[in-house]
Amino acid sequence: MLEARGLTVIHGGTTVLDRVSLTLPEGPYGLGLIGESGSGKTTLARCLLGLVAPARGTVLFDGADLGRMRRPQPFRRAVQIVVQDTEGSLDPRMRVGTAVAEVLRAHRMVPRGAEPARVAALLADVGLTAEHAARFPHQLSGGQRQRVAIARALALRPRFLVLDEPTSALDTTVQARILGLLGRLRAEHRLSCLLISHDLLVVEEFCERVAVLEHGRIVEEGPLTDVLRGPRHPATRRLRDAVPRLPAAPDASRDAPR
Ligand SMILES: Nc1ncnc2c1ncn2[C@@H]1O[C@H](COP(=O)(O)OP(=O)(O)O)[C@@H](O)[C@H]1O
Ligand SMILES: [Mg+2]
Repeated sequence: MLEARGLTVIHGGTTVLDRVSLTLPEGPYGLGLIGESGSGKTTLARCLLGLVAPARGTVLFDGADLGRMRRPQPFRRAVQIVVQDTEGSLDPRMRVGTAVAEVLRAHRMVPRGAEPARVAALLADVGLTAEHAARFPHQLSGGQRQRVAIARALALRPRFLVLDEPTSALDTTVQARILGLLGRLRAEHRLSCLLISHDLLVVEEFCERVAVLEHGRIVEEGPLTDVLRGPRHPATRRLRDAVPRLPAAPDASRDAPR
């Protein structure tokens, strides 16, 4: 289990996270975290990965406090992150196959001899082939680069996957395909996922529960269907109303074939 308890993060006198608590149980599971830009979503993600130390509060991994962990290796493998493609998480000079192999090597995941087969299996798992493995990141589409980022995360056989706006840089059709892929992987690898998005539609596809972050505070949290049907907080309503829905019946008739 991965748990945030009362996390408070302060940057330059501003409270970026204010007593945030959430729980990721064992997978397969999906928790959505929604909030407007600047609400603190990425900061929370970085806390869960141990990349930002909170001023107050703790992150617990299987009950152990991250700030006091003496053997962090199991945690570092178990919790992985996939970020938005535009952040350039792939080395532009490294072929895709090498980039995946690098992760395996850094964590001594497989014996050297078994590496090529494992790289091929990981790429196949995200829908890529040996032909893609030989390419450089700029020779791939945005969707394919996200597949590589997912393969690199899966290479460490994680239990928890933090997805920080994983499809925000992609066209809607590609976005749907990547979300479909993540849904399949979540089931097959029994992953417990925190899916971060400013887009409620993305979370709707994927999550059992949803938490709403506003100015560093969780203002609403609950089962997805409850929160969507009866949002209690204005921030949730704003996010819900920002999503373009299918037009109501009278409007739809205008698009009917003539
Ligand atoms: N390292 C940092 N130094 C100073 N301010 C930061 C830092 N990281 C985040 N912030 C500020 O914290 C707030 C939340 O940022 P972020 O967590 O990236 O939000 P989100 O991902 O929801 O857009 C923003 O106001 C941002 O400017
Ligand atoms: Mg962010």
